[in-house]
Parts: sequence; C-alpha cells; structure tokens
Amino acid sequence: MRKGSIIQLTALSLVAGAICTAVALAIPWLPVSAGREAGRIHFVYWFTTIICMAVFSVVAAVLAFSVWKFRAGPDDDSDGPPTHGHTQLEIVWTAIPVALVTAISIVSAVVLAQNSRAGTDPLRIRVNAQQFAWSFTYPNGKTFGFLTLPKDRHVKLDITSNDVIHSFWVPQFSQKQDAVPGQHNTLIITPTRIGTYPVICTELCGLGHALMRSHVDVLSPTDYAAWVRKGSQASGPPGLAVFQQNGCGGCHTFKPASATGKVGPDLDNLAKYAQAANRGPEAKFVEESIVKPQAYLAPGYPDAMPHIFGTQIPTDKLQQLVQYLMKGS
Ligand code: CUA
Repeated sequence: MRKGSIIQLTALSLVAGAICTAVALAIPWLPVSAGREAGRIHFVYWFTTIICMAVFSVVAAVLAFSVWKFRAGPDDDSDGPPTHGHTQLEIVWTAIPVALVTAISIVSAVVLAQNSRAGTDPLRIRVNAQQFAWSFTYPNGKTFGFLTLPKDRHVKLDITSNDVIHSFWVPQFSQKQDAVPGQHNTLIITPTRIGTYPVICTELCGLGHALMRSHVDVLSPTDYAAWVRKGSQASGPPGLAVFQQNGCGGCHTFKPASATGKVGPDLDNLAKYAQAANRGPEAKFVEESIVKPQAYLAPGYPDAMPHIFGTQIPTDKLQQLVQYLMKGS
C-alpha cells in the first residue's frame, strides 16, 4: 500500500471520527447522573460508545476511500481481478474485535458486581407497585406514595407488585427493575445528588400505565433524618394516608390530597356523581365504588379500577377513606 493512500485513509478516519464526536457531545444523550450506580453505568455506556465510534470511523474511511479510488467507469462491465484471502489482515480484523468485546465484557461485569453491592447497613425500603401507583414502606413501618432518600447512603429496594408486572425506573438513577407479583426483586441505589426526580412505571400495565408516576426526593442526611422524625407523626386526616398508600391519586383528581390523576372520575365532584348514580346513601355509594368499582361505572369511564381494594384495605382504613373522600366533596 502506498504511503499517500495511508495518509488519505487516516484523514478520512479523522473526519468521520470528528463528526461522531460532535454528535456524541452536542446532544445530551443521558440524563444527569444522580446515583453512584448511574455514574458507573454511564462509564460503561461511554466506554462502549467510544470503541464503536473508533471502529465506525475506520470502516467509514475504508468505505469512502474504496468508493472514491476504485470506482468503475460508467462503461466498464468487466469483472474485477481475482483476489485471494489475506491471512495476516484476517487475523488482525478478528483479533481486534475479540479484544474490544472482551474489554467491554470485563468492564460490564465489574460494574454489575459493584452495582449489586449494598454495603453492610443499607436503608431497606419495600416498594409496592399496583395499578396504577407506587407505594414505599420504610423500616419504621410508614408507607408513602413517594420516595424520599438520603444522599450518599446505600439504599436497597425490595420491589414487588400486587397485580400485574410493572417496572420501577428513575432515569437519573439509570436502573430499571421489574415489579413482579409474588416475587421480590432488589435494586441498589446510592444517591449522589440532592434533588427531585421522577419515578416512572416502564412496563405497560394497563389503562393508567402512562400516569403511573411518582417522584423521589433526595435529601441531605440531616434533612432526611428530620423528614423521618416528621414522617413518624401523623400529619393530615387519617384518610389522606389511606388515599396515598393505595395510590388513589394515580388515577383520580382530588384537590384536598393534591392529586391530579385523570384515568378515573374527578373525586372533587363526588357528591354530583353520587347523585347521578342514585344508589342509596352517599357513604354506601362511595364504599361500593371502592370495594366493588364494577358495580356502577360513571358514564364515560371504563371498568379500569382494580377490583382488589375490597381485600386490600382493612375495614377501619376503608371507613377513614370514605369519610375523607366525602368531606372533600
Ligand atoms: Cu405500572 Cu405501567
């Protein structure tokens, strides 16, 4: 091969590489990393991407060079000269990908191993998914409809589901984990960045899937300790806690609970709905609508509400919820 060709090929590779680099850097492909695990996953992503960009640049340069230098003339119908394999070249183009893929495997295995380490004293939180809400239960037994985490501490989530398969995802933590009924999956998160991030269900789970969202607040260790102290005391009416624990706000709008769900009827208009339904006293109607939602469907709404609340909510909590919903209406 002539020296001039090598210089031309190198120049073409550099041009292709520069275009790749510009695209890689100009577009924010990944969300801000808010966890130690996410940082490692981003490292694997960029490690692999840089290798891909290098391979692409060489291949693109050889292709462009071949098209440019060895293009047949418009009237040239002759066959090309017979060629034979080039053993050395074949060894090289086999060995380099083997080395690169092996490197990616090793880096990925190391990151996977590191990301599954929760340390000796992780904060254990039980995560429960159901159509169409998340609930998070802390070691002190308190349950919330949103997640609150301290910065710089290992958190071990124990994720399960009440009904169908859901999937827990916080983009800024760069990890997803399925929530499967009858199964407990774990996910380790070590938050590194104070802020509020979305919790998203990323498995199609029914009519309210797109609205099955919550949020995670990452607090400083002192703020977190204060939150735990405050959270241990009852705040707001008891019905509010039942409302939040059962994820009612995932589907219903209800101003007293700052809920803005749009799948089911607006509970701020509960009295009007009860009147239109004409199914006896309002309290009875509200209770029936929770434990046996299929008995009466508000006009224009499908039978989308899970039929599990009759068995899921204890009687005393159910009464608190009914009272709470009626007073709000
Ligand atoms: Cu739960 Cu999608």
